[in-house]
Amino acid sequence: MNIKTDVLVVGSGIAGLFAALKVSEFADVVLITKKDKTESNTNYAQGGIASVMDPSDSFDRHINDTLIAGAGLCNKKAVEILVKEGPDRIRDLISIGAEFTKKNGKLDLAREGGHSMHRIVHAADLTGAEVERALIAAVNEKKNIQVIENCLAIDLLTEHNVQQLKDQPLQNRHCWGVYAIDVTKNEVFKITSKVTILATGGVGQIYLHTTNPNIATGDGFAMAYRAGARIGNMEFIQFHPTSLYESKPDPNKPSFLISEAVRGFGGILRTSAGEPFMEKYDQRKELAPRDIVARAIDNELKKRGDEFVYLDVTHKKKEDIQEHFPNIYKKCLEAGIDISKDYIPVVPAAHYACGGVVVDVNAQSSLIGLYACGEVSMTGIHGANRLASNSLLEALVFSYRAVNDIKKNLGSLSTPDHIPEWNEEGTLTADEHILITHSINEVKQIMWNYVGIVRSNLRLERAATRIHAIYTETENLYKKTKVFEDLLELRDIVACSHMIIKSAQQRKESRGLHYTLDYPSANSMEEPEDTILQNVHP
Ligand code: FAD
Ligand code: SIN
Repeated sequence: MNIKTDVLVVGSGIAGLFAALKVSEFADVVLITKKDKTESNTNYAQGGIASVMDPSDSFDRHINDTLIAGAGLCNKKAVEILVKEGPDRIRDLISIGAEFTKKNGKLDLAREGGHSMHRIVHAADLTGAEVERALIAAVNEKKNIQVIENCLAIDLLTEHNVQQLKDQPLQNRHCWGVYAIDVTKNEVFKITSKVTILATGGVGQIYLHTTNPNIATGDGFAMAYRAGARIGNMEFIQFHPTSLYESKPDPNKPSFLISEAVRGFGGILRTSAGEPFMEKYDQRKELAPRDIVARAIDNELKKRGDEFVYLDVTHKKKEDIQEHFPNIYKKCLEAGIDISKDYIPVVPAAHYACGGVVVDVNAQSSLIGLYACGEVSMTGIHGANRLASNSLLEALVFSYRAVNDIKKNLGSLSTPDHIPEWNEEGTLTADEHILITHSINEVKQIMWNYVGIVRSNLRLERAATRIHAIYTETENLYKKTKVFEDLLELRDIVACSHMIIKSAQQRKESRGLHYTLDYPSANSMEEPEDTILQNVHP
């Protein structure tokens, strides 16, 4: 069942859904998503969307806060675009039907780490679920958007799939859609398109502990890398400082996030002995940017041999806690913690990829016809560390810009007819699925142990050797086996692990989220450089 369309969107989080809606105003869209359409990082977002919505705030302040958090590596032009176009995109969401929390008839703006002002637009502590609900409802209304669930993109279609075009130089290559698999039937087919919008989200699932749901296996980064697109700054994996500590976590469920907004609300971090500690690390204390807070917690844990630190809101009124954080209150109560009376045990967990598919300010990647939006992209706005709640905003602003660019370019793009069918000749059905699960668990453990909050040359070298062994096993299996979901995801998490380690090895300094014992301070370059990877032989 091959499909042909003008525009293909891969992913049904905020970036994919918003882009599909906007494209539907002038072209037909096919949107594929690998599980149920609501399953995305977006659906789990808590704190909200950062934007200058109050006259007492200013663009300059939001720009400055973003640049400070980004530790010298942000693309200033992209940051200015993000901040200045942000308020209009929030108004777009509201007009689509998203309902945000209000106080006295006005948006109730919260505060999070690294922000000098209250500027977080939110829907209580379930902002992502509200955004996802509103976008899906709007997409369902559009007759020219075909949504295909349980459809996993395997690889991008480019010149490298066509024998007679294989030698085309990388800078002239196009993306013409994807090979994808219907995971309910295990059938692979081809979706050809003039334009492909990659909106596949993040990669948290390559770490043992993560706030990201199971879909976040980095497929988009891996597909783009394999196809020869430029990938940047993959070393900057953000660890959220506060996920709920559980003594026996369920390995199939993400760590539950305790939103940064809880610290914005006055939450205090304490050691197991009940002592506040953030003032030792940064004068902004609990409201310092995330890299600093996560490292401070990691240091306290290692120093004291503890498994968690505490987050304390017991000094706040119970009604206020329940009003601001109904979901966090409920989830903690289910775990036996009444946060109005008890301290919350928390630990850092992998949360967000600041790097990704390198794009320009219109979200166009280095492959003609391939746009990347949302977490999978690297627009340059996050630099070495993302400012809280800038991610949902980035997805909105840059998918909107992508669509404007596509509208201009669509007429000049086409799809060739001679892209070969998926070839599974000579492959066998896998009989040892358990080996895949073991390899996935091994990768998670390696990345957590050696490529986490604190790194070193030795740790990275060890991780590289181990990941390479798993890469070789996985590629051998991939070549001789009929593909299926877990194998494809393993292949992608191995590719992403390779990119993260390689980028981390290339950065001979500590900056933002990349901290290494061998180079503990930042190089004093005036213009620090991005780490760029490109697979030159796709
Ligand atoms: P996602 O929302 O992750 O969507 C990706 C989509 O792609 C999914 O539908 C997935 O199934 C699909 N997909 C993936 N691979 C494939 C494939 N191979 N084939 C087909 N489909 C595929 N950011 C903020 O700004 N504010 C917050 O308050 C906030 N809170 C957060 C809380 C949590 C717990 C988490 C995990 C993240 C939070 N973030 C927050 C980050 C933010 O939610 C994400 O960065 C953002 O939602 C990413 O949106 P996206 O559209 O790029 O990707
Ligand atoms: C949170 O609510 O703490 C998450 C915000 C974010 O990831 O930006």
